[in-house]
Amino acid sequence: MPTLPRVLADLPVSADVVELCAGRADLVPWDTPPDPGVEAVLTYGHPPVRADLLDRFPGVRVVSNFGVGVDHIDLAAAAARHIPVGNTPGILDGATADIAFGLLLAAGRRIVEGDRYARGPDFTRYDPSHMVGREVHGSTLGVVGMGRIGEQVARRGRGFGMRVLYCNRNRNEAAEIALGVTYAKLPDLLAAADYVVLTVPLTAETRGMIGREELARMKPTASLINVARGAVVDLEALTDVLRAGRLHAAALDVTDPEPLPRDHPVLGLPNVIITPHLGSASVETRRRMAELTAENLFLGLAGRPLKHRVGPPV
Ligand code: 8YV
Repeated sequence: MPTLPRVLADLPVSADVVELCAGRADLVPWDTPPDPGVEAVLTYGHPPVRADLLDRFPGVRVVSNFGVGVDHIDLAAAAARHIPVGNTPGILDGATADIAFGLLLAAGRRIVEGDRYARGPDFTRYDPSHMVGREVHGSTLGVVGMGRIGEQVARRGRGFGMRVLYCNRNRNEAAEIALGVTYAKLPDLLAAADYVVLTVPLTAETRGMIGREELARMKPTASLINVARGAVVDLEALTDVLRAGRLHAAALDVTDPEPLPRDHPVLGLPNVIITPHLGSASVETRRRMAELTAENLFLGLAGRPLKHRVGPPV
């Protein structure tokens, strides 16, 4: 039997990826000692892939990421070693926007809080003045980051009769025409929106972009929804603002670190919803992601161009 290529894998990467690699690659665990026989890296976002890791495995010829965000990968270090990096754009936008909108509705209308209350001992009598949330339809949505996921969030907002503002590094005139959205600078968007949804990639510019000053600009009746990366938001500042009732609610699908320490104060606040990074977590989307991840991996191992490559030319 021919030997299979050894692939350093951040396990459990995804059951679908493991299945697609069965009989074609030998997935070895992340803590494998330095080994020139390892030919590829399969990752999905947690342990960083930096120069030191690539130097421990000098035989690596491709890095394949299960997901679109590559903030955990040093793209320049990979390019300097002529290693292409693959990711999975274009197939998880709808699923991620669905989660963003689910969180938006849940935050505004207090759905998760209501669920907890309705199951608990205190719900003994229906009280129409209790647990009254904030309207969604007809309100103003602010989308921070008008890329593929942002566009899908905006589309859902328009479907709910929302006025949609967006900000982005570059103005997206095509989206303005197609979706009827309006460009605003971040401070103006924050001041006007009833719901702020973050969909930006994590970069040097977006790290900590929602800090104390930005949170202070938001309406006390507004909600913040993060489906981007935890580090885009200053969590200590957000915790203070929520605790002081200076924001209606926050819904976080991502945190930094992930997961948060179990005793982090934000976890005890009633007006916070936390989901465990579910953005792309539908059976169909995760399967498509797995297929593309495996495709990139095996194309790279074969020395062929990847289906989706990210980063500087190699
Ligand atoms: C995934 C993501 O959940 O694509 C991304 O950047 O964050 C998510 O789709 C993740 O990459 C897989 O763990």
